[in-house]
Amino acid sequence: MRTRLTRRNFAQAAGAAVITASTPILDASAQATVPAANTGRGFPEGFLWGTATASYQIEGAVTEDGRGPSIWDVFSHTRGNTRDGATGDVADDHYHRYKSDIQLMKALGAKVYRFSVAWPRVFPSGVGTPNPKGLDFYDRLVDELLANGIDPYMTLYHWDLPQALQDRWGGWESRDTSRAFADYAGYVAAKLTDRVKHLFTLNELTVIVDLGYGSGVFAPGLKLPPEQLYQTRHNVLIGHGLGVQAIRAQAQAGTKVGIAENTAIAIPIIETPEDIAAARVAMREMNAGYLTAILEGRYTDAYLATAGANAPKFTSEDMKAISSPLDFVGINVYAPNAYVRSIDAAPGYLSIPFPASFPHMESKWLRIGPETLYWAPRHLAEIWGVKDIYITENGASAADVPADDGMVYDTDRIMYLRNYLANLQRATTEGVPVKGYFLWSLLDNFEWADGYNNRFGLYHVDYATQKRTAKLSASFYRAVMAANQVV
Ligand code: NOJ
Repeated sequence: MRTRLTRRNFAQAAGAAVITASTPILDASAQATVPAANTGRGFPEGFLWGTATASYQIEGAVTEDGRGPSIWDVFSHTRGNTRDGATGDVADDHYHRYKSDIQLMKALGAKVYRFSVAWPRVFPSGVGTPNPKGLDFYDRLVDELLANGIDPYMTLYHWDLPQALQDRWGGWESRDTSRAFADYAGYVAAKLTDRVKHLFTLNELTVIVDLGYGSGVFAPGLKLPPEQLYQTRHNVLIGHGLGVQAIRAQAQAGTKVGIAENTAIAIPIIETPEDIAAARVAMREMNAGYLTAILEGRYTDAYLATAGANAPKFTSEDMKAISSPLDFVGINVYAPNAYVRSIDAAPGYLSIPFPASFPHMESKWLRIGPETLYWAPRHLAEIWGVKDIYITENGASAADVPADDGMVYDTDRIMYLRNYLANLQRATTEGVPVKGYFLWSLLDNFEWADGYNNRFGLYHVDYATQKRTAKLSASFYRAVMAANQVV
């Protein structure tokens, strides 16, 4: 339970003077308090700081300007699928408020912004005739970002598959969807890469497959048997690979392509050479169905042995497409998946069970493990030699109840961010090639099956009025960005 903060008990707890609504630290347009000089412990020069969002989670306007329905429209409108029956029908109304939302980014001092394109805005039925009005929105968004000095980083698929493709082909159960994705990706690349120089194919492959088609807790809500699930996973990998190829074929010179994956993250419980080596083995196997296949162009022996008769059918051509070279790898880093120790017996590592008391944020899955933001990029560099890494998401959920003075004193989020970022700073200081960090999220938004309760934003959104209010964490993040070091 979070205690509702009032001005009085906040002041008492802090032993400080009463904070008033006009206290500048909470005003996003106020100057950040910046340490006098970067002490040398900070992030590399030119490190890119920004925020991230996704189309269905913020845009709303789901029937406007010719947008077709997506699997998330249908799923969220089906009783029992989301908390309190929440849908993305209105969400943050960002479709109409993107200009003022860009001013919020500017007030933070962010230099980059990661957003996603809604496929059903551009191709309402997934394939066929494009809808120019749908693309126009992203055209305007990109222009507005650039006019405000913010570089757009664009994700092509953040889970809002056109429902027409689910109806027609069973969505990602069919390779037809992989091909359709590539066509759509190539089309958008041709139109926008005169200004958008960094593209991500898919966001979080594990979620698309395992939650959408495995456990069914996310759209399209299916529980496929293992054989079909393995093949669906393979089709998603193919979609990524064909997408990379289509983007390269259609994009303007100088466009960079990558992925935004939520790797499973293995952490050595003690930093001995043995446990570190064991964590690397665990990391590679835990991601065998996704990033390992993409970066190595093969499924590991253990993956295929575990799948047995359910293993996906594939050709060497498939594996070549899947492992099409990338310019960078983006990873969404939130929670540790396993703390591991080295053992002599196969497979060489032991996953230590999480104790029941392990701390987490408002979302139960969001276990607090700050060192994930050190180990995830370090593993990428050490296991696969990745030279350009982006943290495409990291952030914390909370219930974020405004205090009596209307402010949101989210010290829990600040505590989370400070500890995670200190670990990222350790990584870059040691030379791990992380180029940028996108905080999830700019705004509170539609948190999928969790609805609107689990807030991730730097800005609080009052959904009744659409009013945005900077949380205390916005001031913290602005100071970090300005100093280019953890403050
Ligand atoms: C990752 C997903 O990409 C994003 O859509 C989601 O809101 C955050 N994690 C938080 O759960």
